Amino acid sequence: MSVMRSVVLGCGSYLPGQVVTNAELARRIDTSDEWIVQRTGIHERHIAAEGEFTSHLAIKAAQAALDHAGVEAGSIDLIVLATATPDNTFPATSVMVQAGLGITGGAAFDLHAVCSGFVFGLASADNFLRGGAFKRALVIGAETFSRILDWNDRTTCVLFGDGAGAVVLEAQEQPGTTADRGILTSHLRSDGRHKSKLYVDGGPSSTQTVGHLRMEGREVFKHAVAMITDVIEDAFAATGTSASDITWFVPHQANKRIIDASANKLGIPPEKVVITVDRHGNTSAASIPLALTAAVADGRIKRGDLILLEAMGGGFTWGSALLRW
Ligand code: ACO
Repeated sequence: MSVMRSVVLGCGSYLPGQVVTNAELARRIDTSDEWIVQRTGIHERHIAAEGEFTSHLAIKAAQAALDHAGVEAGSIDLIVLATATPDNTFPATSVMVQAGLGITGGAAFDLHAVCSGFVFGLASADNFLRGGAFKRALVIGAETFSRILDWNDRTTCVLFGDGAGAVVLEAQEQPGTTADRGILTSHLRSDGRHKSKLYVDGGPSSTQTVGHLRMEGREVFKHAVAMITDVIEDAFAATGTSASDITWFVPHQANKRIIDASANKLGIPPEKVVITVDRHGNTSAASIPLALTAAVADGRIKRGDLILLEAMGGGFTWGSALLRW
């Protein structure tokens, strides 16, 4: 029996021009390239220029995805923008992206699930597309975490970077098997009891300030691998697939040690894991579409490949998605 699937038509990304290396950070705070590389796998990150906002990065990534997909901006009737670093408290950054792309129809909204935002956005758009509410969607992850970092806190500021990535999804009829193109399954979870382990200490309703990111790194690490592998097992169970069926594992890029431990626990060999955390740092909701775009651009990800995505972040929130490119 045929079913509707959300098929990826194209992807794109944008990274700000300024690259900050670990050595440069070590000149400003008490850290070292060796410590950062050993604990995180990060060598450098991109930082947005003064006056360059999340919406600006998102518009560039979205335009690149539209170009890659070969579709006009005007054909998009849904924009889901995942971000924890919006330009303003309101309106949603997605409507600025909509206007920036010259789109005047359909709907655009922001989605807030921090580092899991892109997976949550993908799952949300997938539900709208499969339900018939919209035909063609842009799902964007865009962040300027540099704006919410405490640059004197060496335990957090070395970990993050800025950037944006996007995919174009289209509702298409498919035969209804795991050989279908498109999103085959997605699984989302949250548990607010973990709020204090990773949060921003400000906000419009509480402090009337933007605040800074605070994290108990060890606590996050402790939970990350179990949560990630749990929700991936759900994806395997829902589709009757296993780790050996995966062509590419494209995880949220928080930390190379978390990625390695998750892949190892699942039995996914390192040569199937897409890594960009070394060059991008943790770009939160942007990290998965940035990694996808990198692996498509260098020819690794090809049509028909089975792609496994996962993310975990503040809240905690976590989720997985399995899709055929
Ligand atoms: N440079 C040098 N030394 C540092 C730095 C730094 N940048 N940061 C911390 N240290 C020191 C600490 O002060 C501590 O010193 P002490 O022993 O004298 O007290 C020592 O290094 C060890 O600190 P730990 O916090 O125990 O180091 P750990 O091995 O846990 O590594 C890290 C810290 C990298 C943050 C790790 O806990 C981690 O990766 N956690 C996961 C968090 C994460 O990735 N969050 C991203 C957001 S959530 C997400 O996207 C999934």
